[in-house]
Amino acid sequence: MTKVIAVHSFKGGTGKTTLTANLAAILAMHHRVGVMDLDLSGPGLHVLFGLKKGEVKATLTDIFLGDANPADVIIDLTPRFPKLKGGLYFCPASNKVEDMLRLLKAGLEVTLFQDTLQKVGEQCNLDYIIVDTHPGVENDTVLAMGCCDALVLVSRVDQQDLFGTAVMVLLAETFGKPTFLTLNMVPPGVRIKDAVKVGKELAVLFRSRFLQAFDFQMDVINNLSRSVFVIDNPDSAFAHKVNEAAELLTKELAEAPATAN
Ligand SMILES: Nc1ncnc2c1ncn2[C@@H]1O[C@H](COP(=O)(O)OP(=O)(O)OP(=O)(O)O)[C@@H](O)[C@H]1O
Ligand SMILES: [Mg+2]
Repeated sequence: MTKVIAVHSFKGGTGKTTLTANLAAILAMHHRVGVMDLDLSGPGLHVLFGLKKGEVKATLTDIFLGDANPADVIIDLTPRFPKLKGGLYFCPASNKVEDMLRLLKAGLEVTLFQDTLQKVGEQCNLDYIIVDTHPGVENDTVLAMGCCDALVLVSRVDQQDLFGTAVMVLLAETFGKPTFLTLNMVPPGVRIKDAVKVGKELAVLFRSRFLQAFDFQMDVINNLSRSVFVIDNPDSAFAHKVNEAAELLTKELAEAPATAN
């Protein structure tokens, strides 16, 4: 049974794509994991996974436009990341502007996405699919929320982000989905244990669950999205934190009924 984890934020640039790729890599060390780039108007995961232009034959965008089937879109990343013993499978989005514009006009179809999750999950025999999204309240947000088993909400320790995160929790509640509050890029002026305390209090207030607080890491930003940080730095503080988050999520999801299959 494939469990679907969507990663979202109200504001942009909170670290969704970074956390999606790193969470997927940590999970893929022991599990079979799919990653979907549902940020259809600003995809970025293909960059972190180091995909070359010719390697992408079809995309999720093509599926929504009726030009491809789920089986055409899956890229098996396992051979290039031998440390990921479980398996990592990637479904990219198109980065062509004309495709994005066509899709904006055509709109998104929830049943197509549900069908894609199910087929990709079955074909690759996946334990988890992690879905990266576009920030704010957009069509793909609603799609991801409607189809996931858990929603990871990423926020900076910033008033704008936090108020927006409360809005996203309310939206997720209307879908009956559990949310996991994640603070990212905690600035050097804020002690991490204070951020954790605030995160836990906010989680109670927002009727969410606290997942993790990641401090602003110079080595993560200096990586310049050139690779998946935890694969190259498995013993780093950041990797330990991603690991803790992955353990909590897998534990929580073990008790939840699955959506994808
Ligand atoms: N904990 C962290 N410490 C330092 N830099 C980070 C951290 N998390 C993410 N970053 C950096 O922040 C930048 C934005 O991250 P990312 O692209 O993952 O955000 P995003 O939420 O996906 O953005 P968008 O909303 O545009 O899709 C990247 O350069 C990334 O390397
Ligand atoms: Mg992103």
